[in-house]
Amino acid sequence: MKTRAAVAFAAKKPLEIVELDLDGPRAGEVLIEVKATGICHTDYFTLSGADPEGLFPCVLGHEGAGVVVDVGAGVTTLKKGDHVIPLYTPECRQCKSCLSRKTNLCTSIRATQGKGLMPDGTSRFSCDGDPVLHYMGTSTFANHIVVPEIAVAKIREDAPFDKVCYIGCGVTTGIGAVIWTAKAEAGCRAVVFGLGGIGLNVIQGLKMIGAEQIVGVDINPSRNELAKKFGMTDFVNPKEVGGDLVPYLVDLTKGGADYSFECIGNVNTMRQALECCHRGWGQSIIVGVAPAGAEIATRPFQLVTGRVWKGTAFGGARGRTDVPRIVDWYMDGRINIDDLITHKLPLERINEGFDLMHAGTSIRSVVEF
Ligand code: APR
Ligand code: ZN
Repeated sequence: MKTRAAVAFAAKKPLEIVELDLDGPRAGEVLIEVKATGICHTDYFTLSGADPEGLFPCVLGHEGAGVVVDVGAGVTTLKKGDHVIPLYTPECRQCKSCLSRKTNLCTSIRATQGKGLMPDGTSRFSCDGDPVLHYMGTSTFANHIVVPEIAVAKIREDAPFDKVCYIGCGVTTGIGAVIWTAKAEAGCRAVVFGLGGIGLNVIQGLKMIGAEQIVGVDINPSRNELAKKFGMTDFVNPKEVGGDLVPYLVDLTKGGADYSFECIGNVNTMRQALECCHRGWGQSIIVGVAPAGAEIATRPFQLVTGRVWKGTAFGGARGRTDVPRIVDWYMDGRINIDDLITHKLPLERINEGFDLMHAGTSIRSVVEF
Protein backbone atom coordinates (compact mmCIF):
# COMPACT_ATOMS: atom_id res chain seq x y z
CA MET A 1 0.00 0.00 0.00
CA LYS A 2 0.94 3.69 -0.18
CA THR A 3 1.17 5.92 2.85
CA ARG A 4 2.03 9.54 3.51
CA ALA A 5 5.03 10.19 5.72
CA ALA A 6 7.47 12.87 6.84
CA VAL A 7 10.79 11.33 5.83
CA ALA A 8 14.24 12.21 7.17
CA PHE A 9 16.37 11.65 4.06
CA ALA A 10 19.55 12.92 5.73
CA ALA A 11 20.77 14.45 8.98
CA LYS A 12 20.28 18.21 9.43
CA LYS A 13 17.77 18.40 6.53
CA PRO A 14 14.11 19.30 7.08
CA LEU A 15 11.69 16.39 6.89
CA GLU A 16 10.05 15.88 3.48
CA ILE A 17 6.42 14.85 3.06
CA VAL A 18 6.31 12.01 0.52
CA GLU A 19 4.25 8.96 -0.46
CA LEU A 20 6.03 5.81 0.64
CA ASP A 21 5.35 2.20 -0.24
CA LEU A 22 4.52 0.08 2.77
CA ASP A 23 4.52 -3.72 2.79
CA GLY A 24 1.79 -5.41 4.80
CA PRO A 25 2.30 -7.09 8.19
CA ARG A 26 4.20 -10.40 8.25
CA ALA A 27 3.90 -13.08 10.95
CA GLY A 28 3.67 -11.54 14.41
CA GLU A 29 3.24 -8.01 13.04
CA VAL A 30 0.36 -5.56 12.83
CA LEU A 31 -0.49 -2.67 10.52
CA ILE A 32 -1.55 0.51 12.33
CA GLU A 33 -3.13 3.66 10.96
CA VAL A 34 -1.44 6.40 13.00
CA LYS A 35 -3.99 9.10 13.89
CA ALA A 36 -1.76 11.47 15.86
CA THR A 37 1.88 11.80 16.92
CA GLY A 38 3.82 14.02 19.27
CA ILE A 39 7.16 15.58 18.34
CA CYS A 40 9.83 14.82 20.95
CA HIS A 41 13.42 15.94 21.58
CA THR A 42 14.67 12.48 20.75
CA ASP A 43 13.39 12.81 17.17
CA TYR A 44 15.31 16.04 16.86
CA PHE A 45 18.42 14.54 18.46
CA THR A 46 18.52 11.97 15.67
CA LEU A 47 17.61 14.43 12.91
CA SER A 48 20.34 16.82 14.07
CA GLY A 49 23.02 14.22 13.37
CA ALA A 50 24.13 14.21 17.03
CA ASP A 51 22.78 10.69 17.58
CA PRO A 52 25.68 8.31 16.85
CA GLU A 53 23.16 5.55 16.15
CA GLY A 54 21.03 7.63 13.77
CA LEU A 55 20.52 6.03 10.35
CA PHE A 56 19.07 7.59 7.19
CA PRO A 57 16.80 7.69 5.28
CA CYS A 58 14.26 6.91 7.96
CA VAL A 59 10.80 7.77 9.24
CA LEU A 60 11.20 9.37 12.68
CA GLY A 61 8.51 9.62 15.38
CA HIS A 62 7.90 7.48 18.46
CA GLU A 63 4.97 9.10 20.29
CA GLY A 64 1.84 7.99 18.44
CA ALA A 65 -1.65 6.59 18.76
CA GLY A 66 -3.88 4.95 16.19
CA VAL A 67 -6.00 2.02 15.06
CA VAL A 68 -5.08 -1.51 14.00
CA VAL A 69 -6.11 -2.02 10.37
CA ASP A 70 -4.59 -5.44 9.66
CA VAL A 71 -2.81 -8.24 11.51
CA GLY A 72 -0.26 -10.79 10.28
CA ALA A 73 -0.25 -14.54 10.83
CA GLY A 74 -0.16 -15.75 14.41
CA VAL A 75 -1.18 -12.45 16.01
CA THR A 76 -3.45 -13.29 18.96
CA THR A 77 -3.56 -10.25 21.25
CA LEU A 78 -4.74 -7.64 18.72
CA LYS A 79 -7.43 -7.42 16.06
CA LYS A 80 -8.63 -5.04 13.38
CA GLY A 81 -10.23 -1.96 14.92
CA ASP A 82 -8.30 -2.02 18.21
CA HIS A 83 -7.13 1.39 19.42
CA VAL A 84 -3.44 1.29 20.24
CA ILE A 85 -0.26 3.10 21.23
CA PRO A 86 2.93 1.77 19.55
CA LEU A 87 5.80 1.11 21.98
CA TYR A 88 9.45 1.93 21.42
CA THR A 89 10.13 -0.23 24.46
CA PRO A 90 8.37 -3.52 23.71
CA GLU A 91 7.19 -6.03 26.27
CA CYS A 92 7.57 -9.62 25.06
CA ARG A 93 7.02 -11.15 28.52
CA GLN A 94 9.45 -13.94 27.59
CA CYS A 95 13.01 -12.58 27.44
CA LYS A 96 15.41 -12.62 30.38
CA SER A 97 14.75 -8.93 31.08
CA CYS A 98 10.94 -9.21 31.01
CA LEU A 99 11.01 -12.34 33.17
CA SER A 100 13.37 -10.75 35.72
CA ARG A 101 10.63 -8.28 36.76
CA LYS A 102 13.56 -5.96 37.54
CA THR A 103 13.50 -3.86 34.38
CA ASN A 104 11.25 -2.72 31.56
CA LEU A 105 14.08 -2.96 29.02
CA CYS A 106 12.81 -5.90 26.95
CA THR A 107 15.63 -7.22 24.77
CA SER A 108 13.70 -9.47 22.39
CA ILE A 109 13.94 -7.24 19.29
CA ARG A 110 16.56 -4.77 20.39
CA ALA A 111 19.23 -5.69 17.82
CA THR A 112 17.04 -5.20 14.75
CA GLN A 113 15.18 -2.20 16.19
CA GLY A 114 18.51 -0.42 16.68
CA LYS A 115 19.29 -0.97 12.99
CA GLY A 116 15.96 0.48 11.85
CA LEU A 117 14.65 -2.91 10.79
CA MET A 118 11.77 -5.22 11.64
CA PRO A 119 12.63 -8.37 13.66
CA ASP A 120 13.12 -10.38 10.43
CA GLY A 121 15.89 -7.98 9.39
CA THR A 122 14.01 -6.11 6.65
CA SER A 123 12.21 -2.79 6.33
CA ARG A 124 8.52 -2.45 5.40
CA PHE A 125 8.98 1.10 4.04
CA SER A 126 10.41 1.94 0.64
CA CYS A 127 10.61 4.97 -1.63
CA ASP A 128 10.89 4.39 -5.42
CA GLY A 129 12.18 0.88 -4.68
CA ASP A 130 14.86 1.95 -2.18
CA PRO A 131 14.39 0.87 1.45
CA VAL A 132 13.58 3.52 4.04
CA LEU A 133 14.39 2.61 7.65
CA HIS A 134 12.13 2.39 10.67
CA TYR A 135 13.00 4.40 13.80
CA MET A 136 12.76 3.30 17.45
CA GLY A 137 10.56 0.47 16.22
CA THR A 138 7.71 2.92 15.73
CA SER A 139 8.10 5.60 12.97
CA THR A 140 4.95 7.47 13.91
CA PHE A 141 5.65 10.28 11.44
CA ALA A 142 4.04 7.96 8.87
CA ASN A 143 0.28 7.67 8.51
CA HIS A 144 0.59 3.86 8.44
CA ILE A 145 3.20 1.72 10.16
CA VAL A 146 3.97 -1.96 10.61
CA VAL A 147 5.14 -2.94 14.09
CA PRO A 148 5.62 -6.20 16.01
CA GLU A 149 2.66 -7.32 18.13
CA ILE A 150 4.83 -7.20 21.28
CA ALA A 151 5.41 -3.48 20.70
CA VAL A 152 1.76 -2.41 20.85
CA ALA A 153 -0.36 -1.38 23.85
CA LYS A 154 -4.12 -1.82 23.39
CA ILE A 155 -6.02 1.12 24.87
CA ARG A 156 -9.68 2.01 25.45
CA GLU A 157 -11.66 3.27 22.46
CA ASP A 158 -13.01 6.47 23.98
CA ALA A 159 -9.54 7.98 24.49
CA PRO A 160 -8.76 10.87 22.09
CA PHE A 161 -5.78 10.07 19.84
CA ASP A 162 -4.53 13.68 19.74
CA LYS A 163 -4.03 13.63 23.53
CA VAL A 164 -3.09 10.07 24.44
CA CYS A 165 -0.38 9.89 21.78
CA TYR A 166 1.74 11.82 24.32
CA ILE A 167 1.51 8.78 26.62
CA GLY A 168 3.63 6.99 24.01
CA CYS A 169 6.69 8.82 25.38
CA GLY A 170 6.69 12.02 27.47
CA VAL A 171 3.82 11.41 29.87
CA THR A 172 4.87 7.85 30.68
CA THR A 173 8.54 8.80 31.00
CA GLY A 174 7.80 11.55 33.54
CA ILE A 175 5.06 9.92 35.60
CA GLY A 176 6.73 6.51 35.42
CA ALA A 177 10.03 7.91 36.72
CA VAL A 178 8.16 8.82 39.92
CA ILE A 179 6.01 5.74 40.29
CA TRP A 180 8.07 2.86 38.90
CA THR A 181 11.70 4.01 38.99
CA ALA A 182 11.83 6.11 42.18
CA LYS A 183 8.80 4.42 43.78
CA ALA A 184 8.36 7.74 45.59
CA GLU A 185 5.99 7.70 48.54
CA ALA A 186 3.39 10.11 49.91
CA GLY A 187 4.89 12.84 52.07
CA CYS A 188 8.25 12.94 50.26
CA ARG A 189 10.13 16.09 49.26
CA ALA A 190 11.30 16.23 45.65
CA VAL A 191 13.31 18.49 43.37
CA VAL A 192 12.68 18.49 39.61
CA PHE A 193 15.34 19.97 37.30
CA GLY A 194 13.86 21.19 34.00
CA LEU A 195 10.17 22.05 33.65
CA GLY A 196 9.55 21.04 30.05
CA GLY A 197 7.58 18.24 28.46
CA ILE A 198 9.22 15.66 30.73
CA GLY A 199 9.67 17.62 33.98
CA LEU A 200 6.04 18.77 34.10
CA ASN A 201 4.97 15.13 33.88
CA VAL A 202 7.33 14.27 36.74
CA ILE A 203 5.62 17.04 38.71
CA GLN A 204 2.14 15.71 38.09
CA GLY A 205 3.34 12.21 39.02
CA LEU A 206 4.65 13.58 42.32
CA LYS A 207 1.38 15.38 42.95
CA MET A 208 -0.56 12.21 42.20
CA ILE A 209 1.37 10.15 44.77
CA GLY A 210 0.97 12.87 47.42
CA ALA A 211 4.43 14.44 47.67
CA GLU A 212 4.73 17.00 50.47
CA GLN A 213 7.02 19.40 48.61
CA ILE A 214 7.71 19.66 44.87
CA VAL A 215 10.51 22.07 44.00
CA GLY A 216 10.95 22.98 40.33
CA VAL A 217 14.28 24.29 39.00
CA ASP A 218 14.37 26.07 35.65
CA ILE A 219 16.21 28.99 34.05
CA ASN A 220 13.10 29.91 32.06
CA PRO A 221 10.88 31.99 34.40
CA SER A 222 7.84 31.48 32.15
CA ARG A 223 7.71 27.83 33.25
CA ASN A 224 6.84 28.87 36.83
CA GLU A 225 3.12 29.47 36.33
CA LEU A 226 2.45 26.30 34.33
CA ALA A 227 4.42 24.12 36.74
CA LYS A 228 2.42 25.52 39.70
CA LYS A 229 -0.75 24.43 37.90
CA PHE A 230 0.66 20.90 37.77
CA GLY A 231 1.50 20.79 41.48
CA MET A 232 4.90 22.46 41.93
CA THR A 233 5.09 24.07 45.38
CA ASP A 234 8.35 26.06 45.04
CA PHE A 235 10.05 27.55 41.98
CA VAL A 236 13.81 28.11 41.86
CA ASN A 237 15.52 30.01 39.05
CA PRO A 238 19.25 29.20 39.37
CA LYS A 239 20.06 32.59 37.82
CA GLU A 240 18.37 34.32 40.75
CA VAL A 241 19.99 32.26 43.51
CA GLY A 242 22.87 34.21 45.01
CA GLY A 243 25.63 31.61 45.63
CA ASP A 244 25.62 27.86 45.13
CA LEU A 245 22.43 26.14 44.06
CA VAL A 246 23.00 22.85 45.92
CA PRO A 247 23.10 24.21 49.50
CA TYR A 248 20.16 26.45 48.62
CA LEU A 249 18.09 23.40 47.58
CA VAL A 250 19.22 21.36 50.60
CA ASP A 251 18.06 24.20 52.83
CA LEU A 252 14.76 24.64 50.97
CA THR A 253 13.96 20.92 51.35
CA LYS A 254 14.88 20.96 55.05
CA GLY A 255 17.95 18.76 54.73
CA GLY A 256 17.85 17.52 51.15
CA ALA A 257 15.48 15.94 48.67
CA ASP A 258 14.12 12.45 49.20
CA TYR A 259 13.99 12.27 45.40
CA SER A 260 15.39 14.44 42.62
CA PHE A 261 14.75 14.15 38.90
CA GLU A 262 17.03 15.52 36.17
CA CYS A 263 14.85 16.32 33.15
CA ILE A 264 17.24 18.51 31.14
CA GLY A 265 19.96 16.20 29.84
CA ASN A 266 22.82 18.32 31.18
CA VAL A 267 25.66 16.63 33.10
CA ASN A 268 26.17 19.67 35.36
CA THR A 269 22.57 19.68 36.53
CA MET A 270 22.78 15.88 36.92
CA ARG A 271 25.52 16.44 39.49
CA GLN A 272 23.50 19.15 41.26
CA ALA A 273 20.48 16.84 41.28
CA LEU A 274 22.43 14.09 43.02
CA GLU A 275 24.10 16.40 45.50
CA CYS A 276 20.89 18.13 46.60
CA CYS A 277 19.57 14.74 47.79
CA HIS A 278 19.23 13.94 51.47
CA ARG A 279 22.25 12.31 53.11
CA GLY A 280 21.62 8.65 53.89
CA TRP A 281 18.75 7.93 51.50
CA GLY A 282 18.06 10.56 48.82
CA GLN A 283 17.70 9.15 45.32
CA SER A 284 18.42 11.03 42.12
CA ILE A 285 16.84 9.81 38.91
CA ILE A 286 18.35 10.75 35.54
CA VAL A 287 15.56 11.19 33.01
CA GLY A 288 17.09 13.65 30.52
CA VAL A 289 19.28 12.37 27.70
CA ALA A 290 22.79 13.85 27.75
CA PRO A 291 24.76 14.53 24.54
CA ALA A 292 26.57 11.51 23.02
CA GLY A 293 29.86 10.86 24.82
CA ALA A 294 29.09 13.10 27.83
CA GLU A 295 30.13 11.83 31.26
CA ILE A 296 28.81 12.48 34.76
CA ALA A 297 30.93 13.25 37.81
CA THR A 298 30.57 13.53 41.56
CA ARG A 299 32.64 12.72 44.63
CA PRO A 300 32.23 9.05 45.62
CA PHE A 301 31.61 10.30 49.17
CA GLN A 302 28.18 11.40 47.95
CA LEU A 303 27.30 7.73 47.39
CA VAL A 304 29.23 6.40 50.38
CA THR A 305 27.01 8.58 52.52
CA GLY A 306 23.88 7.02 51.13
CA ARG A 307 22.76 9.01 48.11
CA VAL A 308 21.63 6.84 45.20
CA TRP A 309 22.07 7.59 41.49
CA LYS A 310 19.60 5.93 39.13
CA GLY A 311 18.32 6.34 35.58
CA THR A 312 15.10 5.58 33.83
CA ALA A 313 13.97 4.79 30.29
CA PHE A 314 10.29 5.11 29.39
CA GLY A 315 9.70 5.71 33.11
CA GLY A 316 10.37 2.08 33.91
CA ALA A 317 6.96 1.31 32.40
CA ARG A 318 6.16 -2.10 30.95
CA GLY A 319 4.37 -0.79 27.91
CA ARG A 320 1.65 -3.33 27.21
CA THR A 321 0.79 -3.59 30.91
CA ASP A 322 1.22 -0.02 32.15
CA VAL A 323 0.36 2.25 29.20
CA PRO A 324 -3.36 1.30 29.20
CA ARG A 325 -3.48 2.19 32.91
CA ILE A 326 -2.03 5.63 32.25
CA VAL A 327 -4.66 6.16 29.55
CA ASP A 328 -7.27 5.32 32.22
CA TRP A 329 -5.71 7.87 34.60
CA TYR A 330 -6.08 10.51 31.89
CA MET A 331 -9.67 9.54 31.10
CA ASP A 332 -10.51 9.58 34.84
CA GLY A 333 -9.12 13.12 35.16
CA ARG A 334 -6.26 12.08 37.43
CA ILE A 335 -3.61 13.49 35.08
CA ASN A 336 -3.65 16.52 32.83
CA ILE A 337 -2.43 16.15 29.27
CA ASP A 338 -4.51 18.83 27.54
CA ASP A 339 -2.60 21.79 28.99
CA LEU A 340 0.74 20.31 27.91
CA ILE A 341 -0.25 20.07 24.26
CA THR A 342 0.37 23.65 23.29
CA HIS A 343 0.39 23.27 19.49
CA LYS A 344 -1.41 21.17 16.88
CA LEU A 345 -0.04 20.93 13.34
CA PRO A 346 -0.95 19.15 10.10
CA LEU A 347 1.73 16.78 8.74
CA GLU A 348 2.74 19.35 6.09
CA ARG A 349 3.94 21.70 8.87
CA ILE A 350 5.76 19.12 10.98
CA ASN A 351 9.09 20.95 10.66
CA GLU A 352 7.57 23.93 12.48
CA GLY A 353 7.18 21.64 15.49
CA PHE A 354 10.97 21.46 15.83
CA ASP A 355 11.26 25.25 15.61
CA LEU A 356 8.67 25.70 18.38
CA MET A 357 10.55 23.21 20.55
CA HIS A 358 13.80 25.16 20.23
CA ALA A 359 12.24 28.53 20.79
CA GLY A 360 10.90 27.17 24.11
CA THR A 361 7.40 28.29 23.12
CA SER A 362 5.89 24.81 23.00
CA ILE A 363 5.65 22.10 25.62
CA ARG A 364 4.34 19.56 23.12
CA SER A 365 3.37 19.88 19.48
CA VAL A 366 1.09 17.18 18.12
CA VAL A 367 0.63 16.32 14.44
CA GLU A 368 -2.77 14.99 13.43
CA PHE A 369 -3.09 12.94 10.26
N1 APR B 1 19.16 24.70 34.49
C1 APR B 1 17.82 24.67 34.71
N2 APR B 1 16.91 24.48 33.72
C2 APR B 1 17.37 24.32 32.47
C3 APR B 1 18.75 24.35 32.17
C4 APR B 1 19.67 24.56 33.26
N3 APR B 1 20.99 24.60 33.07
N4 APR B 1 18.88 24.16 30.83
C5 APR B 1 17.63 24.01 30.33
N5 APR B 1 16.71 24.10 31.31
C6 APR B 1 15.26 23.97 31.20
C7 APR B 1 14.66 24.67 30.00
O1 APR B 1 14.39 26.03 30.27
C8 APR B 1 13.37 23.86 29.79
O2 APR B 1 12.25 24.42 30.48
O3 APR B 1 14.95 22.60 31.01
C9 APR B 1 13.68 22.49 30.35
C10 APR B 1 13.76 21.39 29.31
O4 APR B 1 12.50 21.21 28.80
P1 APR B 1 12.20 20.84 27.26
O5 APR B 1 13.10 21.61 26.38
O6 APR B 1 10.73 20.92 27.07
O7 APR B 1 12.68 19.29 27.17
P2 APR B 1 11.89 17.97 27.54
O8 APR B 1 11.03 17.56 26.40
O9 APR B 1 11.26 18.11 28.87
O10 APR B 1 13.10 16.94 27.61
C11 APR B 1 14.12 17.13 28.55
O11 APR B 1 14.70 14.83 28.38
O12 APR B 1 13.94 13.40 26.75
C12 APR B 1 14.99 14.16 27.18
O13 APR B 1 16.17 14.68 25.19
C13 APR B 1 15.31 15.20 26.16
O14 APR B 1 17.26 15.75 27.24
C14 APR B 1 15.95 16.20 27.03
C15 APR B 1 15.21 16.13 28.34
ZN1 ZN C 1 10.38 10.75 23.22
